Amino acid sequence: MFKIGYGEDSHALEKGKILTIGNLQIKNSPRGTIAHSDGDVLLHALSDALLSAFAAGDIGKYFPPSNMDYKDLDSNIILAKVLELINYDNLKINNIAAVVILDKPKLGDLREAIQARVAELLAIEINKVGITFKTSEGLAERHVQARVTVLLELI
Ligand code: C5P
Ligand code: MG
Repeated sequence: MFKIGYGEDSHALEKGKILTIGNLQIKNSPRGTIAHSDGDVLLHALSDALLSAFAAGDIGKYFPPSNMDYKDLDSNIILAKVLELINYDNLKINNIAAVVILDKPKLGDLREAIQARVAELLAIEINKVGITFKTSEGLAERHVQARVTVLLELI
């Protein structure tokens, strides 16, 4: 049986902060995320996509932003907890399709590194992790967003 999941996330950006996407710090970014955790929109949208496939709520249900224990939390810990919640051992990811919307910097040169890190966190092949990048055409330069679809197979 197949299951489809979909998730989105978005964070405001500010000068002098760190930008993390797909568990990688983006070195040359003019701005970074204002967030309770590390503000990794890609891992947050992916985590929500996985939960949504099982109608299991969203990451805020398990990691409430009001809980100070989760301040500056590395989002791969959120993803790992989600994998546990959905019984990941009994699943196969067919593929992931992700979009990251960010004006600056351009991320094309980092695509493979981000794909590789996400693939590593999920223990799947890199060619199952599709990532496309878009700008907002300059309309939202203080904003980063991600949208993720995932197709899962129960095994
Ligand atoms: O948003 P727009 O269509 O102008 O983006 C053009 C191309 O720029 C995208 O298809 C993508 O290859 C690249 N891009 C990127 N990093 C971003 C935004 C866009 O590499 N942060
Ligand atoms: Mg365009």
